[in-house]
Amino acid sequence: GVALSSGDDLITIPVIGMGTSSSPPAGHEATKAAIIEAIRAGYRHFDTASMYRTEQPLGEAIAEALRLGLIKSREELYICSKLWCSSAEKELIVPEIKMSLRNLQLDYLDMYLIHWPLKLSEEVHQMPVKKEHIFPLDIKSVWEGMEECKNLGLTKAIGVSNFSSKHLEELLSTANIPPAVNQVEMNPLWQQKKLREFCKAKGIHVIAYSPLGASNTKWGDNRVLECDVLQDIAKAKGKTTAQISLRWLYEQGVSSVPKSFNKERMRQNLDIFNWSLTEEESNKISQLPQRKGITFASVFGPHDWLLELDAEDI
Ligand code: A2P
Repeated sequence: GVALSSGDDLITIPVIGMGTSSSPPAGHEATKAAIIEAIRAGYRHFDTASMYRTEQPLGEAIAEALRLGLIKSREELYICSKLWCSSAEKELIVPEIKMSLRNLQLDYLDMYLIHWPLKLSEEVHQMPVKKEHIFPLDIKSVWEGMEECKNLGLTKAIGVSNFSSKHLEELLSTANIPPAVNQVEMNPLWQQKKLREFCKAKGIHVIAYSPLGASNTKWGDNRVLECDVLQDIAKAKGKTTAQISLRWLYEQGVSSVPKSFNKERMRQNLDIFNWSLTEEESNKISQLPQRKGITFASVFGPHDWLLELDAEDI
């Protein structure tokens, strides 16, 4: 795991976590069953968000794993959830994390993240969002709400997701507790070298979502798993393309939250530690053509200022 500090707390993040968002949604029972299977396979890090609607099945799976004796105590797990954009307002944040905790049947989170650096007006339930419902985030006051969650002991650490280095600069200029992590899209075809370097310099740990390119989801595509360079490296090493991608991320100092609800694939995704990429293989990967898969505009709508945000230098 990766050890990092948030305020005066020290936490350890298991390098590979299980993503719990699927598309189309896997359903409550299937999600719960997959998470129990994942705990059995050795996963100790789970990534959810109020937006995913997987907090409840995750909570039930944790309770069941404790009953079954798969884990001895909740402290063995690292659980991350995220503040949705419609609650990105200072006074709403403590009630919102309490709701997540109720859903999860937990009394604290290990990590709570701002899901996106955007604010949505409350009534929005559908994507793409109409432009009159989307606003820039008031980073300073929202972060104060996040700090309050940590100061109340509702979460051990706080961080952000989908923040560019510009957003992070703004946050760091007022934060009392610096963000412990930034969770962003990252894989060999969207390497985010500049953002990684920025985060490293500021002591912010990077966590990769869509580490496998989110194949077969409505927001992702197959290009990571179908990339010939990655496939050739996989073949030569007797590994899978998914493992090459996860190992590459690990060698960049990045944690990942691949989602798999399939027993064989979830085990495969954990099996990246007792082998390594050669320098030549790493060099080939670093030269792959780059393309961002998930943009503000593709998630929230192709509105002018979101297109501008996407075009901004990271
Ligand atoms: P499944 O749950 O059926 O395994 P990401 O983590 O980048 O969002 O990608 C998730 C997608 O990749 C899911 O569709 C998941 O499907 C699939 N997936 C996860 N692990 C693997 C793997 N080792 N090999 C192939 N596909 C995988």
